[in-house]
Order: sequence, then C-alpha cells, then structure tokens
Amino acid sequence: MVNRGLMGATGLQFRHHMIGPKQSNSGPVMSDISNLKSKILQQVAEAADLDALEATRVAAVGKKGEVSLMMRGLGKMSPEEKKIAGPALNALKNEINSALAARKAGLEDAALNERLRTEWQDVSAPARPVGQGSVHPVSQVTEEIIAIFADLGYGVAEGPQIENDYYNFDALNIPPEHPARQEFDTFYMHRDEGDNRPPHVLRTHTSPVQIRHMEKHGVPCRIIAPGRVYRSDYDNTHTPMFHQVEGLAIDKDISMANLKWTLEEFCRAFFEVDNVELKFRASHFPFTEPSAEVDIRCSWQGGQLKIGEGDDWMEILGSGMVHPKVLKAAGVDPEVYQGFAFGIGIDRLAMLKYGIPDLRAFFDSDLRWLRHYGFSSLDMPNMRGGI
Ligand code: PHE
Repeated sequence: MVNRGLMGATGLQFRHHMIGPKQSNSGPVMSDISNLKSKILQQVAEAADLDALEATRVAAVGKKGEVSLMMRGLGKMSPEEKKIAGPALNALKNEINSALAARKAGLEDAALNERLRTEWQDVSAPARPVGQGSVHPVSQVTEEIIAIFADLGYGVAEGPQIENDYYNFDALNIPPEHPARQEFDTFYMHRDEGDNRPPHVLRTHTSPVQIRHMEKHGVPCRIIAPGRVYRSDYDNTHTPMFHQVEGLAIDKDISMANLKWTLEEFCRAFFEVDNVELKFRASHFPFTEPSAEVDIRCSWQGGQLKIGEGDDWMEILGSGMVHPKVLKAAGVDPEVYQGFAFGIGIDRLAMLKYGIPDLRAFFDSDLRWLRHYGFSSLDMPNMRGGI
C-alpha cells in the first residue's frame, strides 16, 4: 500500500516536471493571444451575414471555441504566467464579445434596411379590382317581403323542402283521392320496392308550414314562411323549382276584412305605389273557406309594367280563411280561433316589380343576367314610411 502511494506521488511530480518548461513559455502565449485577437476580429468584421457571424462566435467564444480552450489552459500555467495571461484572455473575450455585438447590430440594421427597401409599398396605388357578386332578385325580394311583414308584426317560420304527404296534403284537407293532388304535379321521392311507408314529396307549396308552426307554437300567431317549392312544370312563367311566401294570422277575432287590409297594405309598400287596387276573385283551395285569388290592377305600355293604373289585372296570390279542418289537424279549436292564410309567388313579384320578362332566366346562373338584374349587397330592402 505504502509503495503504491509513493509511486503515485512520484508520478504526479513527474507530470509537473514535464509541464514545467511549457508553462514558462509566456512570450508565445501572449503572442498567441494577440494573433488570435486579430484573426477573430477580422473574421467578425468580415462576417457577411448573421449566420456567418454566429459561426465565428461559436468558433471563438463558444464552449469549444479557441478562446475558451485557451482559458482552460490557464489551469496549467504557473501563477506568474496566469497573472498575465488571465486578464489578457478576459480582455480578449470582452473585446470579441463587444465586436460581435456591434457587428450583429450592424448586420441587423442592414437586413432591416434591405427589407424596407425591397418591401416598399405605394400606399397611394389604386386597389386591385375585387370580383363582386350580386344579390339575386329572388333573395332581394324575399328580404323586402320579410321587412314589410316584420313591420306588420309577422315573424318568419320555416319548414322542410322534403315533406311527407301528411303535411303537404292530408293535414291541409287534401285527402289521397282529392283531384288537387294531381293538379299539383308533385315530385314523389323514390321508394324501394317493399318500402310501404307513406310517400315523401318535394313540397308543392309553403302551406305545410302552417300546420308545422301551429303544432309546435300554438295560436294566436302571425307568421310568414318564405321558401322553395317544387312542381313538375316548365315554360316561361313556370319552373320546376320556384319560391313562395306563406302568410298565416290566427286569433280569436280575425276576419276576411283583415286579410284584405293586410294584402293591400303589403302591395302598397312592396310596389311603392299609393293607389294599389286589388280584386278578390272567389276561388277554391281545399285548405281555405272562403277562398280568394287576388289580382292587381296594372297596365302594360310599350312593354313597361305599371302597377295601380290601366285596364289589366294580374294574378299575384291565393288566399282565404283557414279551413276549420286545417285548424283541427294542427290541434287548434276552430270554435275559438280563426284566421287567414295566403300564398304569394315570390318569383312572380320579382318579375313584376323589376320588369324581368322570363322566369326561366332566374335559375340559369348566367353571370350577365345576374350582373344586370342583381342587387348590390348594400341595397337595403325598400321601406316606405307609413306602415
Ligand atoms: N298553397 C296555395 C298554392 O300554392 C296558395 C295558398 C296559400 C292559398 C294559402 C290559400 C291560402 O297555390
């Protein structure tokens, strides 16, 4: 044990002896420092961009950089040598760090200046044109109708476009054998063989919303229900899909006179003419009794339609007092409640108000037509004072 200890001590002394001559060589150490300094400062000055500068920093003062390695060598020096080399190396490190910081700031400034130069924008340049859509006449007219009836206290209700035949027919007093089922040119949904459920249809009118609304919300009520409806029909005033707005007002003291006033008030506001004349023509719908179709006085002069004057009459809607059987089907007691309903063709109103001759063009998606007849999104629905 003793021997080994002595040998160890001897070994240490030997190492010191070997290192000794190197440490005494302080001249070269100082000149190494000064060479390194000028080399690194030159690299810093020449670093072309931030990446190159970072590489220089790592190679010089990074953990394994040249300066760091020299600092590690201090431990092997004699105290006298350390006294000179230590502060010199610290000063070198500081000098390099401040040179790095200065160069970094310079490069960042240059990069920013370059960005500002290349990303320059002319704020006075005119804006690029933006493709602009337009509001379809049907959407515009629907909004106008909703706004007018909102002023009369009506809310908006909705129902499904795929209906079952109960809501579209039966509940509206149109039993299966009723001829009105044929008149409607109904689209029936496909049923697999052996599927004996009652048929679904594409709704042929918005009237089923009457039933759905009363079932769900009860009475009294005042609603309109705009939406798409479908019938298998096609010519210049008929398309297989078109738009209706249903109206329904139920309360304890509603009469045909209220229906007449409401529709006249609506037409005055919608067509923006004071002298609207409506003709209530006796008619028949299974779901109203009595029923009336309504024509509006108009004139065609030189292809121009004028509402409220002339000798022509144009049919615009169907209406009547809601049939007691319809009220019953919706769970409403016809002994206590009664009211009116109407169904207006929205597309037809749009054609009349904006002088659009062919209904089929409504659904052709022809951009030229849409640009001509479409509305700006900033066009507010027409509102006149008075109602
Ligand atoms: N639903 C009828 C149609 O589509 C219009 C209407 C609605 C008639 C309400 C009377 C009452 O022709």
